[in-house]
Amino acid sequence: MTINQVMVIGAGQMGAGIAQVFAQAGLNVKMNDMSQDALDQGLAGIEKRLKRAVEKGKMTEEDQKAAYGRLETTTNLKDASDCDLVVEAVVENMDVKVSVFQQLDEITPSHAILATNTSSLPITEIAAATKRPDQVIGMHFMNPVPVMKLVEIIRAIQTSDETYQAIEDMTKQLEKTPVEVEDFPGFVSNRILMPMINEAIYTVHEGVASPEDVDAVMKLGMNHPMGPLTLADFIGLDTCLYIMEVLHEGFGDSKYRPCPLLRKYVKAGWLGKKSGRGFYTYD
Ligand code: NAI
Repeated sequence: MTINQVMVIGAGQMGAGIAQVFAQAGLNVKMNDMSQDALDQGLAGIEKRLKRAVEKGKMTEEDQKAAYGRLETTTNLKDASDCDLVVEAVVENMDVKVSVFQQLDEITPSHAILATNTSSLPITEIAAATKRPDQVIGMHFMNPVPVMKLVEIIRAIQTSDETYQAIEDMTKQLEKTPVEVEDFPGFVSNRILMPMINEAIYTVHEGVASPEDVDAVMKLGMNHPMGPLTLADFIGLDTCLYIMEVLHEGFGDSKYRPCPLLRKYVKAGWLGKKSGRGFYTYD
């Protein structure tokens, strides 16, 4: 299957990065968001990152202009009518995602693949909401998208081999590394990462060590580039709690119970870097 025209839905933190890597790989990209402000901000972010890449000598000015020229923005989902692939990166909410997928199912050509960048929701349930479940798949990019090499490709129970192959090939075209994963709560990345972060929070909660010391142990002792509590602050503590709840509910296993201190911080509005305070404080 040939993929030329792509739409990325959601121009937030992830969507703008995803649109950028597709444009850099030579694909025509329509970036869609319900908010014009989000589109303007997303596009400005892409322009800034591409210009920085030129300044650092990682890209020629010609390539930068060509990549930027392959991007369009739209608030109208109907513009997906000529797309071969749509990657959805809207808010992490099942009702919103299902509504977007049902509309896309009506709008896009019958051959189009519908991918979601969800970090925790069941792809199988999203696929079941469409009339083309075999063409629905998870394409889980990591943050920041232009930098991180991994794409977790998640097969819903209904995903066909043709769809999987097309997305694996596309991931390689983006110069990323695909890893094939079955659709279970947290996939592989968050099933392993989040319980580690949750356990780090338990060590603080139980007074075993301070956040600084927990992070120092994992950085200096385990060679992690960033301590788990710093990483949790970057991801957002509300997101971490949400994913722990998905794991807890999805497996019904008490080993995934979210730490009470994590709940308390989220209730206090201490969401990490984005709110100015989490395990650390930010200007
Ligand atoms: P974000 O909040 O930065 O961006 C979401 C965007 O979606 C907003 O601009 C919003 O206006 C737009 N939107 C909401 N509903 C829409 C609709 N119906 N139609 C069109 N646009 C709509 O969120 P972020 O962080 O970019 O996350 C997006 C997705 O990526 C989520 O599913 C999240 O779980 C996933 N993800 C996030 C990661 C992260 O580190 N932030 C990492 C990997 C996946």
